[in-house]
Amino acid sequence: MRKKTFVISCFALAYFIISYIFGFNMTIFADSLAPDPLLLELEELYRGEKQYKQLPFELEDPYKRPKNGPALKNVIHKANREWLKKWISNPKGVVPNAKMPRLMLNDDEIEAVLAYLASIADKELPEQEWDSYLMKSYEEMSDEEYEKMDELVSGGKAVWGRARCNLCHPVKGRGGAVGVGPDLGTISEKVNRDWLYLWIKEPKSYFRYSQMPRYRFDDKELRKLVEFIMRDWDFKSEEDDGDDGEGSGEEETVDKDEVNESAVIEEDIEGQSSIIPDGTLVERGKRIIELKRCFLCHEIEGISELLPVNEKEDKPKEAFEGLLNDIMCLTCHNIQGKGGAFAPVLTHEGSKLKETWIKSFLQSPDIIRPLLKQMPRFNISSEEAETAVKFIEEYFVSDEIPIAKFADVESTEEEIGKGRELYDAKGCRSCHAISSGGVVGPNLQRVGDRLENGFIFYHLKDPHREMPDAVEPNYNLTDEEAMAITHFLISCRSKK
Ligand code: HEC
Ligand code: HEC
Ligand code: HEC
Ligand code: HEC
Repeated sequence: MRKKTFVISCFALAYFIISYIFGFNMTIFADSLAPDPLLLELEELYRGEKQYKQLPFELEDPYKRPKNGPALKNVIHKANREWLKKWISNPKGVVPNAKMPRLMLNDDEIEAVLAYLASIADKELPEQEWDSYLMKSYEEMSDEEYEKMDELVSGGKAVWGRARCNLCHPVKGRGGAVGVGPDLGTISEKVNRDWLYLWIKEPKSYFRYSQMPRYRFDDKELRKLVEFIMRDWDFKSEEDDGDDGEGSGEEETVDKDEVNESAVIEEDIEGQSSIIPDGTLVERGKRIIELKRCFLCHEIEGISELLPVNEKEDKPKEAFEGLLNDIMCLTCHNIQGKGGAFAPVLTHEGSKLKETWIKSFLQSPDIIRPLLKQMPRFNISSEEAETAVKFIEEYFVSDEIPIAKFADVESTEEEIGKGRELYDAKGCRSCHAISSGGVVGPNLQRVGDRLENGFIFYHLKDPHREMPDAVEPNYNLTDEEAMAITHFLISCRSKK
């Protein structure tokens, strides 16, 4: 009798544990469909070197860049002095997701560092022409001017939304799913509009290893975006009463605990500072930068490096290489084991996606996976999209995926009907939507326009071959069953 209850409670316990694990897994995957980088690495370990198709150039992994911090040459033209002082003294106190460590410099040392940085900077950065009314304070603007300004700002908000800047950049802690960009919650108090314009236009001209894409914005879009970022409350600190248009962020709001804490640290540093030799402020600054090894993370003019940084080749030979480096596809996508884990792996996309679909998607991305993981609109031109499609079709392919064999299958109503029944019976609907259904897997409404027939079959036979950690169960479908579902999915296309 006692043995029986014991067995029963064991079963009950096992049931709870299993359902807990499964339930738990589902929620994890529900908000992160991208493979965990660790899993990818493990997988590579166990499977050995992958046989990738040889590309005509070397892929640069943006996560293995030689310098993780921006170049400091012109930082004094980018950020205002008060901001820089606060930043160097305690990065996380300024930007919540700062990566730079706190290096325990006291105020004098920071002055010296800034003096050195000022000494290496260009005289000035190129300035933009701004309409004079935009330089006025809100009180000085006429109603008409205020309205014009307001229109620019709301236009900028729309550009920001389409560009999905928020995927990489959190704003006051919200967003930033990709995990690479700084929080922009107080950016309008750090940078000036001239710098901002140039940065968004051409991030690499300021920081050559930047992970940020160069969007193809035209001048109008850029100006709207700048206006939005410089003025909207989202980009100013909360305690700022900001009665003025800009530059109102100079306030010193350091809370008391902060002050006490840094006072303690300063005492520690007093002793250390004696090793820093006298000399001009600039010379001291240089010496402090060397001692604190700022150059490990930053390119800084005039500071000798332990290991020389490889000079990058100027011009990519291959047009697609240029596009990859410009749009920084690898910040989000993974190709042949290099790059991020936020977006679908592109290594075999040529054997998966239809050419026409890729081309229109790159130019104007559609929403396929509705879980806040959408591809931004970069304003890629038709020629650029064409270049990408050609390359993807030639190099991002796998011999395992039987494209040719399925190229011209003809479906009968009967086969489609059989496939539809199987689709319902197997519960595909719980994860996929065709007019209605779940959102764990991609939307299949127009899957016939999107996927190669052969890929659909190949995927159904074993969903884990391409994606080892996919949550889709392997239904061990027979060839007939898989073929029937393939017929059904091919028939899911936009009505012409
Ligand atoms: C371990 C790497 C690391 C070290 C060492 C380091 N930094 Fe940084 N620094 C960063 C990173 C990363 C950023 C970019 C912002 C962030 O933290 O996400 C940054 C940002 C900055 C910025 C702002 C740059 C901009 O364009 O906004 C300044 C100024 C700066 N660092 C100065 C220094 C100085 C001075 C030292 C040495 C005393 C130093 N850093 C040492 C990693 C580092
Ligand atoms: C693929 C990710 C990504 C996207 C998308 C992206 N950025 Fe960035 N951005 C970055 C990264 C990363 C940095 C920091 C520099 C670096 O490490 O490359 C940055 C830096 C910046 C900075 C400077 C911040 C500072 O404190 O120095 C601004 C401003 C900015 N981005 C604005 C934008 C805007 C506006 C958009 C949308 C049009 C956008 N970004 C889209 C990745 C991204
Ligand atoms: C800011 C991150 C980001 C960048 C940068 C980016 N993508 Fe994407 N991309 C995504 C996301 C997220 C998806 C998934 C979209 C969806 O499911 O709705 C996607 C989807 C795709 C797809 C369809 C994949 C599939 O199987 O559904 C292709 C092809 C693609 N991107 C190519 C590119 C190329 C080429 C570049 C560079 C020119 C690029 N992407 C840059 C985020 C990005
Ligand atoms: C437990 C959830 C789940 C179930 C059940 C499921 N799938 Fe999926 N399916 C996924 C996920 C997740 C992906 C791949 C996600 C990605 O590419 O981002 C996927 C991918 C696919 C793809 C490739 C889609 C594309 O656009 O890349 C097809 C086709 C597909 N599933 C069909 C089916 C069919 C048919 C069934 C039923 C026999 C089924 N799935 C059942 C979760 C599921």
